[in-house]
Amino acid sequence: MSIISDISNMPIGVFDSGFGGLTVLKQLLKILPNENYIYLGDNINIPYGDKTKEEIEKLTFKMADFLINQKCKMLVIACNTISACSYSILKDKYQIPIIEVISNGVKDALNNTKNNNIYIIGTEFTIQSNAYKNEINKYNKANKNNNKINKNNKVKITQLACRKLCPMIENDWSSYDNRLEVLNSYLENIDENSDTLILACTHYTHILDDIKNLLQNNIKNNVKNIIDPAYYTAASVKQYLEKNNLLNNNNNNIKIYTTENIQKANRIIDIFLPKEIYNNYAIKHLNL
Ligand code: DGL
Repeated sequence: MSIISDISNMPIGVFDSGFGGLTVLKQLLKILPNENYIYLGDNINIPYGDKTKEEIEKLTFKMADFLINQKCKMLVIACNTISACSYSILKDKYQIPIIEVISNGVKDALNNTKNNNIYIIGTEFTIQSNAYKNEINKYNKANKNNNKINKNNKVKITQLACRKLCPMIENDWSSYDNRLEVLNSYLENIDENSDTLILACTHYTHILDDIKNLLQNNIKNNVKNIIDPAYYTAASVKQYLEKNNLLNNNNNNIKIYTTENIQKANRIIDIFLPKEIYNNYAIKHLNL
């Protein structure tokens, strides 16, 4: 067997502070169904969004080390908070390719906005870090001669931290009677002129239907595009593997590791990856 085909067979490591990153895994499974995956959720330490940079980095290294020891061929940071906090430090520390969600969400948003007015919702850490703002400015600078992208190069960005959402989604959104009230209290802040809303926390895609419903029926807004960074992230992974001749075409195996109590994890994962549709994964407990 050649070295290339050995590497192709290796799994893609996907990780998040919890089960939000399963929204990224789902996109990956759609466009790369023949890959092997190892998913890692550090659920016991959620929410990362309320932690300090040092705390997040420490936990991130533990996750990355675990996935690298499992011989992953690449890492996908399926978490905005970790992407905002630790992407550059991970890139410096590890040799394997690492793909994150923020630059991918930004590309999607800038390709879709017609009026350059973008609203971003995410965790406290992601919003405070200004990672999206910085990435938008970086992208615009790099493309300033491309007329198609943001003609006047001035993008209005408004951001809001939604601290309550991630833990509620992680612990079974449907079990909270006040869930729509809480969601509404955040979404009603959206700038009435924003035509693009970025879901800058991978957990939020799990409640996309409720977000759409409130925007359509309850809240005055002008949102035409809801951006889920998972979509372009999965496309970037595919592009990288194709370009480097590393696609796997033989088998498909999904292992999910969680730091959560296994019974609870089984119950929650079943909500996000219903067995009727996804029947080929195994769940294991892990002490990081
Ligand atoms: N899914 C993570 C994100 O995208 C949630 C972070 C958290 O644990 O607060 O940011």
